Amino acid sequence: MKFSALVAAQLLSSLAAAVHLAPRKNPRAIGLDIQRRYVPDPVAHDRLRKRADTVQQTLDNLETLYYANASLGTPAQTFRLHIDTGSSDLWVNAKNSQLCQQGGNQCGDSGTYNANDSSTYEYVNDEFNISYADGTGASGDYATDTFRFGGQTVKELQFGIGYTSSSTEGILGIGYTINEAGVNYAGSKPYSNLPQKLVDDGTINTNAYSLWLNDLDASTGSILFGGVDTDKFHGELQTLPIIPESGVYAEFIISLTGLGMNNTNGSIFSNENVAVLLDSGSSLMYLPNNVVRSLYHTFDATYDASQGTALVDCSLAEQGGSLDFDFSGVTISVPINELVIVTDVSRGQPVCIIGIGPAGDSVSILGDTFLRSAYVVYDLANNEISLAQTNFNSTSENIQEIQSGSAGVPHATGVADAVSTAAVGTAAPRINGPSGTAGGSMSTSTAGAMPAFTASPWVSGAVVGAGVMLGFNGF
Ligand SMILES: *[C@@H]1O[C@H](CO)[C@@H](O)[C@H](O)[C@H]1NC(C)=O
Ligand SMILES: *[C@@H]1O[C@H](CO)[C@@H](O)[C@H](O)[C@H]1NC(C)=O
Ligand SMILES: *[C@@H]1O[C@H](CO)[C@@H](O)[C@H](O)[C@H]1NC(C)=O
Ligand SMILES: *[C@@H]1O[C@H](CO)[C@@H](O)[C@H](O)[C@H]1NC(C)=O
Ligand SMILES: *[C@@H]1O[C@H](CO)[C@@H](O)[C@H](O)[C@H]1NC(C)=O
Ligand SMILES: *[C@@H]1O[C@H](CO)[C@@H](O)[C@H](O)[C@H]1NC(C)=O
Repeated sequence: MKFSALVAAQLLSSLAAAVHLAPRKNPRAIGLDIQRRYVPDPVAHDRLRKRADTVQQTLDNLETLYYANASLGTPAQTFRLHIDTGSSDLWVNAKNSQLCQQGGNQCGDSGTYNANDSSTYEYVNDEFNISYADGTGASGDYATDTFRFGGQTVKELQFGIGYTSSSTEGILGIGYTINEAGVNYAGSKPYSNLPQKLVDDGTINTNAYSLWLNDLDASTGSILFGGVDTDKFHGELQTLPIIPESGVYAEFIISLTGLGMNNTNGSIFSNENVAVLLDSGSSLMYLPNNVVRSLYHTFDATYDASQGTALVDCSLAEQGGSLDFDFSGVTISVPINELVIVTDVSRGQPVCIIGIGPAGDSVSILGDTFLRSAYVVYDLANNEISLAQTNFNSTSENIQEIQSGSAGVPHATGVADAVSTAAVGTAAPRINGPSGTAGGSMSTSTAGAMPAFTASPWVSGAVVGAGVMLGFNGF
């Protein structure tokens, strides 16, 4: 029998397509609408986030970004939880914590938990402790209880209860289990956090989910556990490897290989290898200093070191054009108007900042000003990220299951020769951008630029930069 490799490949791919394209009547995927809140000072929000010395630094007293409704306990106690790909624990404030007992009902928006009011509460241990570099944070117990979200009930889900806390917001961390607070602080064995528990319970096929944040001007997006909504992106998904840190897959880091403007590939830099963290809990994006210097020049932005913010003329929001991010040949174009954030409307005259900041000594971060333009599948089971250009404001849906095993993300193709290692830290690309204002050394793919803050045994704490934005002079 003659059977050419090409035919075999075609047959295989059409078989694969047949398997992956067939939408089930009731796909095993859990969708959840998420909503964006107005953040009066996104830079201050990010500054707190970046100052912390672990990846669990999403605690803050400020308004946070995308959140979802959920409940814990029997009968249900309701919560509004901040969705965070940059941490891994679900945790909520205890009703009787000192913070929540203070006047002003400051925990009221997010919700509080009372173990005594739930017949399904079970104590696990007292090893829940998430903290800031400055010693503030939240600590208390791990417990299990019934969790409800998106029409789904999850029994015996482990979560943290903040009996001592300095954050009024409950958080739904959905990262790698190795990043859980108990692993970092008590050296505990990882437990099944929400996405893993959905797999353990057979609710979804595999530990993978899709996040669609939608337009800056729209207030809702969605997260889909175990599925992909093909109506929410243009073209096909393309799959890239996640970059491990010291051999451990702990955070959603991929390699940014080029950056261009107005659909001119690599006009700012190309053939580089900049490790970037995809972080839904970060309002802005943070890029290597020399890249940011070049972009500020292009956008005529004025950096205010005291605020850690760059001001731009609000008319930039009316300008066409795009900033184009290249990941081993996969391009995500961010429209310029998605980068302009209006703040401080209270004083009459709007003040606009650009949604890009200098990463300083820290790993580069692609936060919401980037993520809104992308449809992102976080495949923790295979340590891969699939990306496509978002379809802003899509109102239809076509949900398909993600299958277990490799290549299980529907409508996704692996990128050949994608960069799979990078120095996670300070690598600065050589700029060939329009301004030519910045030098900067070549990035390397050696470990030479690894950051030195490896406090936890598992995680290099790559998000940390000692005082990145604070005291950031001479930028
Ligand atoms: C969450 O619940 C509140 C109060 O019921 C509602 O106003 C809001 O739209 C809900 N948000 C989402 C994302 O479902
Ligand atoms: C539950 O009630 C007991 C007895 O009243 C009390 O000692 C305990 O602190 C309460 N626990 C919580 C978590 O509120
Ligand atoms: C939580 O961790 C911080 C920092 O490691 C530590 O200072 C604090 O004492 C811990 N809290 C509890 C309750 O163990
Ligand atoms: C999406 O919808 C918002 C709110 O209706 C609108 O302001 C915005 O221009 C829309 N975006 C696109 C890209 O069509
Ligand atoms: C990009 O395109 C926009 C709209 O066409 C234009 O205003 C802007 O000057 C261009 N930027 C660069 C750097 O070419
Ligand atoms: C940019 O690169 C992409 C993918 O590598 C390619 O499809 C596209 O044609 C390139 N565009 C330009 C203007 O060179």
